[in-house]
Amino acid sequence: MVRIREYRKADLPALYRISVMTGDGGGDARHLYRDPDLMGHIYVGPYAEFAPDLCFVAEDDLGVAGYIVGTVDTRPFEDRLEREWWPALRERYPDPGTVLQPDWDADTKRAHRMHHTAVIPDAVVAECPGHLHMNLLPRLQRQGIGTRLLERWFETARKAGAGRVHVGVNPGNADGLAFWQRAGFERIVLPEADDSGRAIWLGRPVP
Ligand SMILES: CC(C)(COP(=O)(O)OP(=O)(O)OC[C@H]1O[C@@H](n2cnc3c(N)ncnc32)[C@H](O)[C@@H]1OP(=O)(O)O)[C@@H](O)C(=O)NCCC(=O)NCCS
Repeated sequence: MVRIREYRKADLPALYRISVMTGDGGGDARHLYRDPDLMGHIYVGPYAEFAPDLCFVAEDDLGVAGYIVGTVDTRPFEDRLEREWWPALRERYPDPGTVLQPDWDADTKRAHRMHHTAVIPDAVVAECPGHLHMNLLPRLQRQGIGTRLLERWFETARKAGAGRVHVGVNPGNADGLAFWQRAGFERIVLPEADDSGRAIWLGRPVP
């Protein structure tokens, strides 16, 4: 029996764990990181802290095993993170350098990301101002739980006035891509200059 419910502060460690356990193109990324919290600091913590109303979890008898988080307006959300979230983390994880080096390890790349956060292209945000992230542990996958979490998120986002929302998918995550396309998200075509190839961007209106 899987329950979808609102996020509570006590869920945060579970959400951080899920983030890294599904962070390598949808698969377990724990072997890649020395610090298992780095992914959570980027993909979970800010949403739980600043947009808890748009944070839902899926829980079974073993505990919380999935979540959906997001914001209805990306740029103001990023501005708030700039002021209130990144400064403390930037002190804790120093900037390894201005230009990302492909041979850096995963921890170093994430530290770099904390200092160089402008990764969502303007064309994506202009078309779809909101965005979301969803991650389920394998034991909850492919049972319609992601679909239920998304419906719950849409319901709340609609009441918050959301128009269109986007997701960014790792090009290696074919399963994730299949899910979002099945959920009605369509590819956002970017001008070549804006397309780094590091993510596939998809968007749709909030129904
Ligand atoms: C991607 C994810 C959120 C999907 O949630 P889910 O609960 O597994 O998906 P659902 O069971 O609701 O699937 C709905 C439909 O999406 C498609 N889909 C979902 N998972 C799929 C997969 N692994 N391969 C192909 N299609 C898939 C199918 O059409 C599916 O319908 P069907 O089961 O009737 O064929 C979840 O599997 C997950 O968290 N994966 C790991 C982390 C991740 O990749 N997150 C997304 C990052 S962009």
